[in-house]
Amino acid sequence: MSTDDIRDVEIRLLLEGIHRVYGYDFRDYAEASIKRRLCHWLAESPFDNFSMAQAHLLRERPLFEAMLGGITVNVTEMFRDPLFFKAVREHVVPFLKTYPFVKIWHAGCATGEEAYSMAILLHEEGLAGRYRMYATDINETVLQQAAEGVLPIADMQRYTRNYQKSGGKASFADYYTARYDRAILSAALRKDMVFAPHNLAVDAEFGEMHLVLCRNVMIYFKAPLKDRCLQLFDDSLLPGGFLCLGMKESLERHRPHERYAELAPGTRIYRKNYGRVD
Ligand SMILES: C[S@@+](CC[C@H](N)C(=O)[O-])C[C@H]1O[C@@H](n2cnc3c(N)ncnc32)[C@H](O)[C@@H]1O
Repeated sequence: MSTDDIRDVEIRLLLEGIHRVYGYDFRDYAEASIKRRLCHWLAESPFDNFSMAQAHLLRERPLFEAMLGGITVNVTEMFRDPLFFKAVREHVVPFLKTYPFVKIWHAGCATGEEAYSMAILLHEEGLAGRYRMYATDINETVLQQAAEGVLPIADMQRYTRNYQKSGGKASFADYYTARYDRAILSAALRKDMVFAPHNLAVDAEFGEMHLVLCRNVMIYFKAPLKDRCLQLFDDSLLPGGFLCLGMKESLERHRPHERYAELAPGTRIYRKNYGRVD
């Protein structure tokens, strides 16, 4: 067996151990990506190989949590894929407005930019105070950052452009206060948001949602884990509700597909039909 083969065995054993000890299930993450991130973590760690690391990772929770922070991909931005947000504004918001109160779930929200973007959009569309937004992630460190709502000021120009392209109706600067090198997002946006830990690989659904967003998360998962997530979202969504995926993700070839129709090709916004749920 080559050193690489042994390393692959060690990684599999480690992921199995992490699942058993901490309940975090990375066994169905896309192999190349998780392997790359674990090897990067190992190279920066004091351990020579995964067998040595495993003894500590399975016994020392803080070490495991620090590693967790390094192996999830948390890249995000305000109004990421602006045309997606434009489509939400034009096609999903009119539906949301027909309800006295709406429930939204951002699964895999990272540092919260997607949820804050949605809050801005909902405020501009007159839905302030009429929604509850659940923003969840497996990684508690990014959730803490999300709850603080502080962004680097250097990103504001790019975010302003995204906001304008997404059909923003005001000035993006209305939503933050600049303080030295940071932009502090308005507390009013956070009022109806709940940030909470949730692991898509093992935790349960959120009931009676009108809108579920899970963008750029399942791209790191193998088919069985994708199927689990899509089933969770299907169980969470009310009939007529909307499921939004990332631009490189799609519902096709997965089981709940027959119950959904994409709003327009390429939007990655799927509407659940009102038919019988089996
Ligand atoms: C690339 S970010 C996507 C952020 C945002 N949705 C967006 O599109 O900009 C992927 C997020 O998924 C989270 N994630 C990875 N595995 C997860 C799991 N099993 N359950 C919940 N979140 C997970 C990561 O921690 C990370 O914050």
